Formats: sequence, C-alpha cells, structure tokens
Amino acid sequence: MKGRRILIAALLLLVLAVVITLSGMGRHHQDMMDKAETVPMPADTTAASNAQTAEVDAAESAFRRTCATCHTLPDPRRHTAREWPAIIVRMERHMTSRGIPPPPDEVLEEITAYLQRNARS
Ligand code: HEC
Repeated sequence: MKGRRILIAALLLLVLAVVITLSGMGRHHQDMMDKAETVPMPADTTAASNAQTAEVDAAESAFRRTCATCHTLPDPRRHTAREWPAIIVRMERHMTSRGIPPPPDEVLEEITAYLQRNARS
C-alpha cells in the first residue's frame, strides 16, 4: 500500500514538472515572438540587396544635402526622367556662378539617377 502511494506521488511530481516545463517554454516562446515583432523585417536580407539599399540611401541624402541650398527641395516628380539631366547641368552652373562648389561628378550622377528613378512618368 505504501509503495503505491509513493508511486502516485512520484507520478504527480512528474506531471507537475512537465506542466511547469511546458508553461515555461510557452512564455519563452512568447518572449521571442514579442522581440521578433519589434525588429523590422527586411524584405530581402541578402548582402547584395543591403548594399543596393545603402547606395539608394546615399543618393537620396546627397540629393537632400545638395538641392536644398538655394531653394526648397524639389519634388522628383516635378520632371520626367528625360528632363532631369539638363536641369542638373543648369543647377551645377548656378552653383559655380554663385561660388558654391558643386559636388563631384559621380555624386551629381547619383542624384540624377535618384531623380530619374522617382521622376514623373
Ligand atoms: C546654387 C544654387 C542652387 C542649387 C545648389 C540648386 N539649385 Fe535648383 N535652382 C536654382 C535657381 C537659381 C533656380 C531658378 C532658375 C532656373 O530654373 O534655372 C533653380 C530652379 C530649380 C528648379 C525649378 C526649375 C525647373 O526647371 O523646374 C528645379 C526643379 C531645381 N532647381 C532643381 C534642383 C536640383 C535637383 C538641385 C540639386 C542638384 C538644385 N536645384 C540645386 C539654384 C540652385
């Protein structure tokens, strides 16, 4: 009789241990889910796409830096992709004639490409 009671007690302890373990895991899993929600999920995490994103960001910040010195930042949709290059050339002349050193050619090209990507169709 005594042996049977010990067996029941052991079984209860085992069940209790399993329940505690499972609920602990549940909480842990929920924690991980909460954390996952706060981390923005990039659409594509390949190195190539990250490099491309960095390049686009650089072009946009060059545009914001360069093109709001003399007037408000123009909307890229103000012109078509065909029109933008001539405007950049004109703006470069404005800069030179006002003693504002224009950015290097490759930066102007980046800005042009950025404007063309976001241009009016
Ligand atoms: C040195 C000052 C200066 C800087 C820097 C400058 N602009 Fe201008 N921008 C002007 C002046 C002056 C005008 C008005 C005369 C004209 O249109 O050429 C103008 C006008 C404009 C216009 C309106 C005219 C049109 O054709 O739609 C756009 C768009 C424009 N700028 C875009 C840009 C962009 C893009 C950059 C950055 C690459 C830039 N600007 C940088 C001086 C500047």
